[in-house]
Amino acid sequence: MDELAAKINESMQALPSLSHVKPNFIWGASTASFQIEGAANEDGRGPSIWDTYCRTGQVANNDTGDVACDHYHRYKEDVALMKALGLQAYRFSIAWPRVLPQGTGAVNEAGLAFYDRLIDELHAAGIEPWICLYHWDLPQALEDRGGWLNRDIVGWFADYARLVGRRYGHRVKHFATFNEPGIFSLFARSFGARDRTADDKLHRWIHHVNLAHGAAVDALRETVKDAKIGLVSNYQPICPSSDKPEDVAEAALIGDYWNRAFTDPQYLGEYPAMIRDAIAPHVRPGDMQAIFRPLDWIGVNHYSPVYINSDPNAIVGLGWGPKPADIPRTPIDWTIEPDAFRDTLIEVSHRYGKPVYVTENGFGSTLEKLDANGQVIDSGRIAFLRDYISGLDAALAAGADVRGYFVWSLLDNFEWESGYGVRFGLVFMDYPTLKRIPKASFDWYADVIRHARGAT
Ligand code: NOJ
Repeated sequence: MDELAAKINESMQALPSLSHVKPNFIWGASTASFQIEGAANEDGRGPSIWDTYCRTGQVANNDTGDVACDHYHRYKEDVALMKALGLQAYRFSIAWPRVLPQGTGAVNEAGLAFYDRLIDELHAAGIEPWICLYHWDLPQALEDRGGWLNRDIVGWFADYARLVGRRYGHRVKHFATFNEPGIFSLFARSFGARDRTADDKLHRWIHHVNLAHGAAVDALRETVKDAKIGLVSNYQPICPSSDKPEDVAEAALIGDYWNRAFTDPQYLGEYPAMIRDAIAPHVRPGDMQAIFRPLDWIGVNHYSPVYINSDPNAIVGLGWGPKPADIPRTPIDWTIEPDAFRDTLIEVSHRYGKPVYVTENGFGSTLEKLDANGQVIDSGRIAFLRDYISGLDAALAAGADVRGYFVWSLLDNFEWESGYGVRFGLVFMDYPTLKRIPKASFDWYADVIRHARGAT
């Protein structure tokens, strides 16, 4: 065996602890429309806020989503990769401007037909589609009408959800309303106007997202028999970067915005204590009931804890504090803390009392390229995933009700303001040729799934 094969073999053998994972646990992968589809100007798709943002000079390398992974044309190849991995489920998002180019009104049949083809292909491969309605690509036409700051968006989003439910609901059962509302709301990166987060507009925005969620849940219940509906939330410990009282207080406040501003009203019926008064002016009679609709599961996206200090000049006081020096980091400087993952899963499971699905977890790198043999031996990613999946197993051992794990991501893709320079995929994208090259982590994850499902 040559040295390379030995290296691969060594990392392949390092499987995570899986002793508490039941055979019916769901193994999956996640992607998002804007990050992979490309075909931005094809078949009647309207522009999204991210098409606009990519032209403001604020995305690394001036990358755009115009081509991305060209998944729109190559979805069959991508589903074949999922099948080779042994995935049971695949979470993707629908591009709202592809199916409703103006966000409301005229429906784009060609756009809807694309997701029909994708769902056909997934079913033929025995993979269950999980649809997320909103992964940040708001139709630009709606942004021009005020976007999330206009309360009319509640109705626009519900109409969009109804369209999706009617069209796909007879053969897709798992739906998420939003992906990481905390991130797109707090950072407002989604349209590049950071000042909007600096004041009361943030609270209006948060409340509208929550109302839109509730209205979309109702629209999905109305149109989809036996729908299983949840929210995909970013949830992670928000740690003070020092033990100074002002940093501790700031971290607690940011924790309410970051982790609970959406999940608490949606799953528990009320805003978390520290932000309740700030939101109150936007809450009309009946709103809290309209947000608090029955849900079936909760999705957790988790990568690493956040360290906060009390810098008053940062977004909503959100200062990124120094991270503890002794904790290992990924190549994009995110701390590697699988125990925090375990604790998060336990906390979410207990706080909300719903089945938990890890809807994203993964390892980002700026360093990956094909080696002399045309391969990517991403042992850092394998070690990360092994330790995090072991953390999940520990959460199960502690009683957390976790039912599935979706890795981020199937393919390297458009990493928002970092462009294509940051890679999260199990599959390497050779962007100039659009060739897909499975990394060592691809074989490793396939092996994990096989083991977890009882094969050897
Ligand atoms: C969370 C987001 O949902 C996804 O779009 C992003 O690419 C990953 N995290 C990695 O940053």
